[in-house]
Amino acid sequence: MGKTFDIGLERLAGAGVSVDVPLNETQAPPSKREGGAPGSTFYLETFGCQMNEHDSEKVAGVLLARGYKQVESAESASVILYNTCSIREKAAQKVFSRLGEYRFTQQEGQVIGVLGCVAQQEGEKIFSRAPWVNLVCGSASYRKLPQLLAQLEAGNRRVTGLETDTDETFETEVTRRDNPWRAYLTIIEGCDKACSYCVVPSTRGPERSRTSASILEEVRQLADAGYTEVQLLGQTVNSYADPSARRMRFSELLVAVAEAPGIRRVRFTTSHPRDFGKDIVDAIEAVPAICEHVHLPVQSGSTKVLRAMARTYTREEYLEKIALLRAAKREISLTTDLIVGFPGETEKDFEETLSLLELAQYDGAFCFKYSPRPNTPSLKMDDAIPEEEKSRRLAVLLEKQREIQRARNERLIGQAFEVMVEGKSKKEHQWSGHTSSNKVMNFTSREQESLGDYVHARVTAATPNSLVGEKVESQA
Ligand code: 5AD
Ligand code: SF4
Repeated sequence: MGKTFDIGLERLAGAGVSVDVPLNETQAPPSKREGGAPGSTFYLETFGCQMNEHDSEKVAGVLLARGYKQVESAESASVILYNTCSIREKAAQKVFSRLGEYRFTQQEGQVIGVLGCVAQQEGEKIFSRAPWVNLVCGSASYRKLPQLLAQLEAGNRRVTGLETDTDETFETEVTRRDNPWRAYLTIIEGCDKACSYCVVPSTRGPERSRTSASILEEVRQLADAGYTEVQLLGQTVNSYADPSARRMRFSELLVAVAEAPGIRRVRFTTSHPRDFGKDIVDAIEAVPAICEHVHLPVQSGSTKVLRAMARTYTREEYLEKIALLRAAKREISLTTDLIVGFPGETEKDFEETLSLLELAQYDGAFCFKYSPRPNTPSLKMDDAIPEEEKSRRLAVLLEKQREIQRARNERLIGQAFEVMVEGKSKKEHQWSGHTSSNKVMNFTSREQESLGDYVHARVTAATPNSLVGEKVESQA
């Protein structure tokens, strides 16, 4: 994430916003003791989901406000921070191999800190596995980071922040965002759903929603700073429960965010099927600024497996949710997450997942092999599926989904869509961006486009993962 750092700051500076903004009431004022020592620098590397990326933006903001400077390479940093992911075993292993690399390059006085889900999950065990680590801090304790760093500066060798029984939501007014046009914004932290395979409830703690007033105030500030797209984040974003007397429903919040002057696109992820109702579809249908895309993880097409996963819905109930989306006047693109090889998944169960793909017609799917995780109920379940069989099922699933996506994207040839210009290709006259439906569009334009602008492009060709198009003057 360090690479996009300059753009973010330039954009903020250009919009007249300084990173030196006032601190929240709940944050202590900067003091010499708590601030970084003169010349203190940090290097921050992020693994994992959008929530982690956004947490890193907040951590960076908090440290910058305390006088630390962010640097682009670990060698020159006084503090190296890894924001980690433990959703699957591979992700967690990666963290330890990276930490291993730093064992030999760590300089005298250089702090190495582990943040995020691996920190929360492994806790102080990280110190025995990687004794050169000085700081271990989970996401519910990030507000304490400057104090933890100050303790290290004061001579402590090891410090931890591992509480999850907090109702803090780590709101900060000093977030340093990476992308100058699209802003992530957490509206609900943690997860209460307890899916039997998932570490998130134990690594991120219980659900805590922000007040609608604080969210809408941040949206107004983002719009004033020039952001046009807001992406509302939560592990179960649609389980949002406004803790203020206003009791705004999630769908009402979507509309209110979309109506903020200057905001042109509102996205939200991830939705849990149990809390997904018609009111959300109605909001998308009625308000063009709410993007026509829903990410609705199904995980399996078999009711038996869904029950073992503790997903709280059946195959039929999930299909009813999709029917709501498909009945909307606006075409809404649909993406999902799927797990193959869950304990006890038979060939017949797997075939039910394949048939669900056919019925659901997803525009995208993140497919994973089941990975047993510490402290999760499914760890104790019998009927483990051999690794080769998991791989086979994954390959079959990916191939089927690829063909569905190819057909769905080819259907769009000839239609024009609004695209936010997000990048320029090395090839001349080639640009790229996302449609409201969250599809990548690579398009040709003879003009010098400005990043962050919205243009229209007509689809001329399609692949399973992207659209190819050319700029047109309007959607007509
Ligand atoms: N094994 C495999 N996939 C998992 N996911 C979460 N936990 C596991 C696990 N133990 C997947 C789910 C979830 C996505 C973010 O990661 O599909 O929706
Ligand atoms: Fe994990 Fe389930 Fe919560 Fe998603 S809803 S974060 S899969 S426990």
